[in-house]
Amino acid sequence: MTTPDAAAPDLPRRSTVRSLLRLWPYVRPVRARLFGAALVAVVASCLSLVFPLILKWMVDGPVAGHDPAGVWLGALCLLLLGFAEAGLFGLRRWLVARPLSGVEAGMRAGLYRHLQRLPVAFHDRWASGQLLSRATTDLMLVRMFLAFPLTFLLVNSVTILAGIAIMLAQQWTLGLVLLAPALPVMVVCWLFERRYSQVARRAQDQVGDLTTVVEESVLGIRIIKGFGRHRSQARAFRELSRTLRGTELVKARLLASIWGVIVTLPEFAIGAALVLGTVQVADGRLSAGTLVAFLSTALALRWPVDSIGFLLAMSQEAATATERYFEVMDATPESDEAPASAASVRVPESAAGDQDTTGARDAGQGSRAADDEGGLRFHGVGFRYPDAPADAPPVLDRIDLHVRPGESMALVGATGTGKTTLTALVPRLHEVTSGRITLDGRDIAEMPREELRELVAVAFEEPTLFSATVGENVLMGADDTAGPAELDRALAVAQADFAHGLPQGTGTQVGEQGLSLSGGQRQRLALARAVVGRPRFLVLDDPLSALDVHTEAAVEAALRRVLAQTTALIVAHRPSTVLLADRVALISGGRVAAVGTHHELLRTHAEYAHLMSGAEEDDR
Ligand SMILES: Nc1ncnc2c1ncn2[C@@H]1O[C@H](COP(=O)(O)OP(=O)(O)OP(=O)(O)O)[C@@H](O)[C@H]1O
Ligand SMILES: [Mg+2]
Repeated sequence: MTTPDAAAPDLPRRSTVRSLLRLWPYVRPVRARLFGAALVAVVASCLSLVFPLILKWMVDGPVAGHDPAGVWLGALCLLLLGFAEAGLFGLRRWLVARPLSGVEAGMRAGLYRHLQRLPVAFHDRWASGQLLSRATTDLMLVRMFLAFPLTFLLVNSVTILAGIAIMLAQQWTLGLVLLAPALPVMVVCWLFERRYSQVARRAQDQVGDLTTVVEESVLGIRIIKGFGRHRSQARAFRELSRTLRGTELVKARLLASIWGVIVTLPEFAIGAALVLGTVQVADGRLSAGTLVAFLSTALALRWPVDSIGFLLAMSQEAATATERYFEVMDATPESDEAPASAASVRVPESAAGDQDTTGARDAGQGSRAADDEGGLRFHGVGFRYPDAPADAPPVLDRIDLHVRPGESMALVGATGTGKTTLTALVPRLHEVTSGRITLDGRDIAEMPREELRELVAVAFEEPTLFSATVGENVLMGADDTAGPAELDRALAVAQADFAHGLPQGTGTQVGEQGLSLSGGQRQRLALARAVVGRPRFLVLDDPLSALDVHTEAAVEAALRRVLAQTTALIVAHRPSTVLLADRVALISGGRVAAVGTHHELLRTHAEYAHLMSGAEEDDR
């Protein structure tokens, strides 16, 4: 996992509008509904401005002329207007609700699809909680923005402008009094926008960190309990949630201060207009009806003005949520073309000329001299992790290795020498930084990934099972045509026949939502998944480490039959696993130090003999 900051790079701040404009492609399909709803809302909101005009007519007409019938007529009009306004707002909601949840679902599906296509290096770098919070909280903020602030910022602006026009038309001097606070309010809004966007971003990142902690402590609950760490874990959580609470309070304070200004200043202006207007009515320069109309227009504008504060806040949050969403969406997914960076450094020997090469080079050359292009071949492969410090030596350096067709090669080396890394390069979970890898003479970088991953099957040190049935988990390794016969065969090879004895046989649910299996059981299912598709190339990373000696021997006997037709690269720590393979490559210091049969290397290579003797002692 990574530091929280890594997930939230200090990008140059985009303007709120620019960020939000990126939502357009998702909103486009529902634009008609959205614009329709906005129009309906504008009409509904402007209806509220008609009330004062009717009041004015009532006060100056029927009320002044003592005409009860006229008053009733006026009241009826007001009632009908009220119904119309409520009906229109209801219509607006109905118009937007369904399409917008569609937009949210579409964006979420897009994010999920993209996450699946992003390279492993991306997932190494990003905390899972950060991704989770983007897929949930952030997308909800975006939907809320589309449903509410987006429309109402427009509706309120139109209403305010129309209201001001009406007031200026009634009595322009009073209108100007009411307009006086506009400038300071705008300045405050501008200041607020800048401050609030930073705090909103911080809060959303902190939600991501919190999610990460929750997720890790749920996944690692056994470790936490086993080491009695629940208190310190709870403390860490409390710390983070206190930080988040602090940030939320800053947000609330900012919102409160802008609200204070936005509510108070217009209130003063209305008070001043009331005094001035009353004086004018007393002087006979203004009709009572006009003053009533004027003041009720001003009061009708209070909600549109007051709400600007939190509408801006919600927009700001939606803008940062959009930014966070697109930070993930902008990450480059795995492409089928050779990556430009790898192509440009595909000159072997790059920057490694000064490394110590004695001994290791000779061993590498030995395999290079070997015959044809078939099988699995590493040509001067170098690799460094993308996030490794620039001055660190590469994990793998000029690896030359040839696994002949049908041959199985064991990879042996001290822990941390790069065996897992080497195996991950074959299915292109990581891209080589120099050199190339060929399968039967074809460069894997030029193969469509789908084809490559059909050719190569993998099983890793950490056997991962998904929340699905045993059968589904295993058949994941084959194409869709594979059926029960293939399943049974793979289970037999992996000595995983225990699956038939599970409560619902191979239909038993396993994984996080199902039955818990032992480490060795999971490992055997993962192995079955690797062999079920009868792959041409098999890459196994220490596949038998969790098995007892007898099960291991049985798996080996069955595997040997499979391996006879398959070209295999097998990471091994124990001599018994090594003996499965035709030849062994010793990896040391990121280089191939020696290649030969187990017995040859035992005789000729002290480091190998040392590694194997230690392992044998462990085995006993
Ligand atoms: N995702 C990663 N990002 C950066 N460095 C990594 C990453 N994974 C592994 N490394 C580093 O690369 C080196 C080789 O790791 P690797 O997992 O390939 O070793 P290994 O030979 O498989 O070890 P083991 O026998 O313990 O499984 C280690 O020093 C490790 O710290
Ligand atoms: Mg490993």
